[in-house]
Amino acid sequence: MTDNIVADQRVVSGMRVTGRMHLGNYHGALKNWLQLQADYDCYFFAADWHALTTNYEHTAGIASQSRLMIEDWLAAGLDSTLTKIFIQSGVPQHAELHLLLSMITPLAWLERVPTYKDQQEKLKDKDLSTYGFLGYPLLQTADILVYKPKYVPVGEDQIPHVELTREIARRFNYLFGQTSDFIQTTTAAFAKLSKHQAQFFQQLLRRYQQQGDVESLQEGQQLLQQVAGLSRNDRECLAGHLAGHGKEILPAPEVLLTKEAKFPGLDGQKMSKSYNNTIALTEEPESVAMKIKRMPTDPARQKRTDPGEPEKCPVWALHKVYSNAQVKDWVVTGCRSAGIGCLDCKSPVIDSIIAEQKPIIERAEYFAANPKLVTKIIADGTEQARATAQQTLTEVKVAMGIAE
Ligand code: TRP
Ligand code: SF4
Repeated sequence: MTDNIVADQRVVSGMRVTGRMHLGNYHGALKNWLQLQADYDCYFFAADWHALTTNYEHTAGIASQSRLMIEDWLAAGLDSTLTKIFIQSGVPQHAELHLLLSMITPLAWLERVPTYKDQQEKLKDKDLSTYGFLGYPLLQTADILVYKPKYVPVGEDQIPHVELTREIARRFNYLFGQTSDFIQTTTAAFAKLSKHQAQFFQQLLRRYQQQGDVESLQEGQQLLQQVAGLSRNDRECLAGHLAGHGKEILPAPEVLLTKEAKFPGLDGQKMSKSYNNTIALTEEPESVAMKIKRMPTDPARQKRTDPGEPEKCPVWALHKVYSNAQVKDWVVTGCRSAGIGCLDCKSPVIDSIIAEQKPIIERAEYFAANPKLVTKIIADGTEQARATAQQTLTEVKVAMGIAE
């Protein structure tokens, strides 16, 4: 964890609903959440609306999947006395903020989010030419900004979405957060520019604010350095005007990057539902053993007496996660000399996974046997989340002039 933690700092993150968690989810996002919940004011939710954006033809079961996902979070050790745990659609304020933010979001900003084109390329069999899919990152923006968090813990793939969140926050503050002080100073400073400089400045501002052209921000800063007769405060105000810093009604949050050593799946690729290579977080021990025993190994080891190379074997990737130095030495030596068989080699991995899962499965059984408790945990989390979200929304609506 990072140092100098302040207990009341807020953290928000969501997970798109996919149903039951697997070991890859656990070693990636979930373990990270478990660490955060002790030190931060955490809001963690199941993003069920986001599950609609790529698969609108198959929406049956999303409600039960949201619940199962949350049961797995609880089984993993997420603690509802520390953390607000809820389902996105239980807090309609996310949707209201999404709508309000949509009014000030340039289409170009959404179109240039890398996942937009990437996913359309990758998921050719799905219809991703919907408004909902284009708006995916803006909904995420609303999910985040509605709680005004300091940090958003996400994996690398989500960085562009948090970047968009930051830009939208700045734009909102620019449009609706300008105090009269700020405006006076900016106006006076602007009057000190030459006619030519002023025109150029306006051009850069339009390029940034309307087309999202980030380079014009830098060009603008260079321009301001060159203008003689501006005080430091003048420069800061003009730069703020250009970048969209008004009063911070919606503070721009920071990414808290989850280091994702790709958790290996049964076939050596990253563990993922779409590759069908997962071990469920609460997989039965017998089933874990069977799945590992069936894993492919280095193809060079046809016979027990054929030596192999761990680097060419997906089982080795699991040893790297689960085994200590001694076991790893045993694997490397035994594999290269054909001193051990592949089933011998797999056995410590099976034991480690089963041991890791034991307390998780126990908790999962407890929650599965107490459905009312799970319902209550979600209801409480939802209520707290709504209260926080409503405060933000009230401020937002007043700032935008649609409420008094
Ligand atoms: N897009 C995220 C993912 O696919 C899920 C998500 C939705 C999210 N809303 C969020 C993550 C808000 C962080 C904050 O994993
Ligand atoms: Fe893989 Fe272990 Fe068999 Fe070597 S001995 S091929 S590392 S399973």
